[in-house]
Amino acid sequence: MNEIKKCLIGKNNTCVPIWFMRQAGRYLPEFINIRKKNKDFIKLCLNPDLSSEITLQPLKRFDVDAAIIFSDILMVPYGLGQSITFIDNLGPVLSKFEIDEFLKRDDRAFTNTLNPVYEAIKKTRKNLDSKKSLISFIGSPWTLAVYMFGLKKDKVTLDLQLMDKKKSEIDLVLKKITKFLKIHIKNQINAGADIVQIFDSWAGLVPEKNIENYCYKPNHTLVDFCKKLSVPVICFPKGIGKKYAIFSKIVKPNCVNIDFDVDPEWAKKNLNGVCIQGGMDPKILLADKNTIFKEAENFLKIFRGYPYIFNLGHGLLPQTKPDNVNQLVNFVKNYEYK
Ligand code: CP3
Repeated sequence: MNEIKKCLIGKNNTCVPIWFMRQAGRYLPEFINIRKKNKDFIKLCLNPDLSSEITLQPLKRFDVDAAIIFSDILMVPYGLGQSITFIDNLGPVLSKFEIDEFLKRDDRAFTNTLNPVYEAIKKTRKNLDSKKSLISFIGSPWTLAVYMFGLKKDKVTLDLQLMDKKKSEIDLVLKKITKFLKIHIKNQINAGADIVQIFDSWAGLVPEKNIENYCYKPNHTLVDFCKKLSVPVICFPKGIGKKYAIFSKIVKPNCVNIDFDVDPEWAKKNLNGVCIQGGMDPKILLADKNTIFKEAENFLKIFRGYPYIFNLGHGLLPQTKPDNVNQLVNFVKNYEYK
């Protein structure tokens, strides 16, 4: 069994596996090269050869313990019939959400549309060292709803008026989308992925009164589904602060990724012993080597003897130097406690 899986099922408290969110992508020159020739991002995600090649690029450079499939959480709304455009300084914008179309969408059409993603996973698994994990992922129902309904006013604030206006549709979508997310999880596992990560990137925006129904419950349903499939699952409810404690208690994933606003000492004491992943601010990787090593050592010391997967508090930034990533990986892999 590989190191990450050992950690996730509670069989390993000594070694610290490592991988990075957004390790395949924008900071790697070899990715930028492919991207220049493939301007349509969704098309790129639906090209099994290129998606698989991009997924494996970081593993050619660094001794990370996992590959994460090069895809996007928005492939699910795409599979449900919404088209996606990208707007500078705002991010992805989806075509108008049509509830009738959504409710009519059948399972087979959904799977057919996303089949290239599964082909990419199959291809990647074939070319990936058997000691390495292949991580698949989904967006949480809430985080997807934020994009499907266009619920943000700007990059970081919710349009509460729109949320009120759409309340009944949002509630319905949060329930009904779970079915398609389960299909997407299952298809990715059948294709050869062996871990699931659930990105709830906008969990921190959920209004307090909705946190139970919009965050804990949908994540819990999906975690239970993964557990029934015997697939380890990592949750990333970004931005919920102290609510990470109650989240871990209710949702009970195999592992939670903490974001860079969470105090790692606090997390170790308050997350009910659940495996912890990540935490280090991705900006640290823009600093000099000594700063990077010092911060990494801080995490390694705090989580000594605790099930911990080294990662960041969010994805690698575009400005990151690949050599800094390499040095960090080697530092963590060769670290010996004094
Ligand atoms: O430059 C690149 O790396 C190009 C690839 C790209 C991704 N997503 C990779 C990705 C592009 C153009 C997107 C579009 C997109 N999707 C954006 C805007 C642009 C950007 O680069 O961020 C956004 C905001 C989304 C929505 C999205 N995708 C979210 C909220 C998440 C969850 C993680 C997070 O950032 O909070 C994703 C996941 C994602 N996008 C992955 C990849 C390769 C998978 C997860 C991973 O590798 O960690």
